[in-house]
Amino acid sequence: MNTPVDKRKATEKAAVEKYDVRPGQSVELLKELHILTRDGKLNQDSRRKLKQVYHLFQFIEPLLKEVLARKPALTLADHGAGKSYLGFILYDLFFREQAPQGHIYGIETREDLVQRSTALAARLGFQGMSFLNLSVAESIDSTALPAEIDVVTALHACNTATDDAIRFALAKNARHIVLVPCCQAEVAAVLRQHKAQALANPLAEIWRHPIHTREFGSHVTNVLRCLQLEAHGYQLNVTELVGWEHSMKNELILASRTQKPSRRAAERLRAILDELGLAEALGPRFFTPA
Ligand SMILES: C[S@@+](CC[C@H](N)C(=O)[O-])C[C@H]1O[C@@H](n2cnc3c(N)ncnc32)[C@H](O)[C@@H]1O
Repeated sequence: MNTPVDKRKATEKAAVEKYDVRPGQSVELLKELHILTRDGKLNQDSRRKLKQVYHLFQFIEPLLKEVLARKPALTLADHGAGKSYLGFILYDLFFREQAPQGHIYGIETREDLVQRSTALAARLGFQGMSFLNLSVAESIDSTALPAEIDVVTALHACNTATDDAIRFALAKNARHIVLVPCCQAEVAAVLRQHKAQALANPLAEIWRHPIHTREFGSHVTNVLRCLQLEAHGYQLNVTELVGWEHSMKNELILASRTQKPSRRAAERLRAILDELGLAEALGPRFFTPA
């Protein structure tokens, strides 16, 4: 008999087959994230988000496997988690089956989102997930997190939250760091402040016009972040997060702690801060001694 439940299940099965829903993936989760509607159809906007998170998963999965080969109790902290799409998909596709002793921590300042994610994880039986109503900066010293975290992610964490996520990762001795930075206004603000003096140097033409100040500030910020990580012994892969068409901010920084701290990177970081007049205002943020 073709009952409404049979029909819904058939629609769901068709959606699972037609779209890129992975074998074994929780259909319940996809519904809860509003990727599948209640009657099992695809929600197009959310589906785009799913595609993007899958794309990022391709980069993150090998990092998780690398850690897991050494320790079963793999830990990951996702900063500026928002609705925790990334955390939930990582848990569903990887931790649930392959790292049942592992744990994902979602760090988020919006209490409503933390409560929502906590309730969703409980409903789905995702016991290895916790959500903490903390800023990234607060999470560094919070006793709710372990002293070491293996993998740190920060996906479009606003403004300087990405820099705090780097400080967190360094403090927690993270093996891998995955950053998709959001806009950062701090460097541009300092460049703007010193623009008049800077223009004695023809190179300051690079950031003279306001739009260039903003874009150059954002670019320099990521360069400083990269040097900071290299100075601390991380090897980097800086690339574009393709498939992220909805956002201008699609730079992906993958960092793995595999080498000795680089003195050269630290020196270059210092030189850029000095040259651009950023050292006084921003030195402490970027120049964390190795
Ligand atoms: C643009 S959303 C990105 C959400 C999610 N990572 C994603 O890509 O779907 C940024 C999130 O970071 C949170 N946030 C901003 N500043 C933060 C901070 N300093 N500490 C923790 N969360 C922060 C915001 O509340 C928001 O939910």
